[in-house]
Amino acid sequence: MNKIIDGKIISEKIMDDLKLKVQEANAQGIYPELAVILVGDDPASQVYVKNKQLACEKLGVKSKTIKLESTIEQKELEKTINELNQDKNITGILVQLPLPKHINEEEVLSKIDARKDVDGFHVINSGKLLRGIKCIKPCTPKGVMTMLEYMNINPEGKNAVIIGRSNLVGKPLALMMLAKNATVTVCHSKTQNLKEITKNADILVVAIGKANFVTKDMIKQGAIVIDVGISRIDGKLYGDVNFDDVYDSVSLITPVPGGVGKMTICTLMQNTLQAAIDIKNHE
Ligand code: GUN
Repeated sequence: MNKIIDGKIISEKIMDDLKLKVQEANAQGIYPELAVILVGDDPASQVYVKNKQLACEKLGVKSKTIKLESTIEQKELEKTINELNQDKNITGILVQLPLPKHINEEEVLSKIDARKDVDGFHVINSGKLLRGIKCIKPCTPKGVMTMLEYMNINPEGKNAVIIGRSNLVGKPLALMMLAKNATVTVCHSKTQNLKEITKNADILVVAIGKANFVTKDMIKQGAIVIDVGISRIDGKLYGDVNFDDVYDSVSLITPVPGGVGKMTICTLMQNTLQAAIDIKNHE
């Protein structure tokens, strides 16, 4: 049996559906436009931003990338965001992370109009997620939930263990799993007896960015393993899970590359369309 959850196939299906939905929106006078802010010249961020642009092109969604020097001051960056907030044509704003050390990331994210916050990182959207109110949700964890749904995996009553407690993935994913009635445990670098906890996981999600961290001895027989991590070592990509080692023990697993990574961008496109629709409907 093929145990692989194929992010490429799932994301392509979502993109095909979205293409039609964008056309439907256009027919109703709704034209999403995404603005991406890229600060500095981090090569990985440049690739991510380029891929976001390409995804917009595929869907016939307008996008623009605003490139700013790594030495930019907080106030200047916030001014750029404010201009995009005021711009009636722009329906989605994304600030590529990480930002240079001298910039206060939280302050920057909180300046984005929450309705245009297609990353779902604004405190208003985080707070709504916590409270179970409809909101724009962070792309990577939402993409993980979409993958599970696509595979007909219902988290209800299952032990979902998440390794990693980042604002980008671990924390929001815990809330999304909880909303689906999973029993959720969040593990991190200070967790003791990690193996005992992961051995109980029906669904194990790993998002720490440590190549091949999870091995067979940490897996419950038949577990579903979702690998969010991606590390590049000597030009080769590695997930957080030692895929070959755990493969016999799992019932389903996402590969790296070709797994969760593919889901982030199509989810961003879902959020971009939804934000445009919601803004139009509340005009
Ligand atoms: N950097 C790594 N992942 C992400 C993401 O999902 N959104 C943004 N804006 N930056 C990131």
